[in-house]
Amino acid sequence: MPQDKSGFLSDRMQELLGSGVDKGSFERMQELNRLMSYYRCAMMAVVTKFNVLNEQFSLQFDRNPITGIKSRLKTLPSILEKLERRGHPLTIESIEENLNDVAGVRVICSFREDVHMLSEALMQQDDIILLERKDYIRNPKPNGYRSLHMIVSVPIFLAHEKKYMRVEIQLRTLAMDFWATLEHQLRYKKDLDIAADMERELFTCAHLSAELDERMDGLRQLMQAQNELSEFPVIDKSPRWTDQSQNLR
Ligand code: GTP
Ligand code: MG
Repeated sequence: MPQDKSGFLSDRMQELLGSGVDKGSFERMQELNRLMSYYRCAMMAVVTKFNVLNEQFSLQFDRNPITGIKSRLKTLPSILEKLERRGHPLTIESIEENLNDVAGVRVICSFREDVHMLSEALMQQDDIILLERKDYIRNPKPNGYRSLHMIVSVPIFLAHEKKYMRVEIQLRTLAMDFWATLEHQLRYKKDLDIAADMERELFTCAHLSAELDERMDGLRQLMQAQNELSEFPVIDKSPRWTDQSQNLR
């Protein structure tokens, strides 16, 4: 059995930082590191689940329903800010108890239909528990934001226990992602309330992106129908690009 290095580490850290920080604080720091590493594992488990679904779907139907997967762990300042804003205690237990989005996975799909197909395929897996589902595609937010949000609980397998961790999943099409990414940038750059006419313009753009999705869906259905009738169906032989970026916000 490998030796637990936490006692040794806490002594060395104390030496490094001086006498102002006591042993208990180091232990809490290590507990926090452990919790963040559990969230990272849960996030990786969810990413793998989507990669497997994409692989299986492209083998079966020769089409990629997923064009990219991004993931992110909330930073400590952002965790503390959210706990404070919502009036929750600033403790490690409170993070697990009160926050659903410490670990986040964003799945960008080719078509609108893929979003619902993938969410259903994921929920059929018997180790995953759905805690919350918000369909902002069927019911967009007042500003025009569209995506399918799910909070799930996934097991991670540690040396001596199975632990369930919460992960926020956002599923959206390329067009929804285009709008949400730029809207986020504009909102954050402006910092203050965005002016009413800018809000209206963003809302119009959201409509345009929804229309784009609808028209692309129509084209896909047309292609599919033609392929089913054809003696020589079109097969996509091009290699798949994989997204290596991890910078989800
Ligand atoms: P928060 O987690 O505090 O944001 O609120 P909530 O728990 O009610 O979550 P909700 O499901 O509404 O949104 C969670 C996440 O979805 C956000 O952190 C963003 O990543 C994304 N999101 C929600 N609304 C918008 C929006 O209007 N614009 C953009 N760009 N992203 C949004
Ligand atoms: Mg959130």
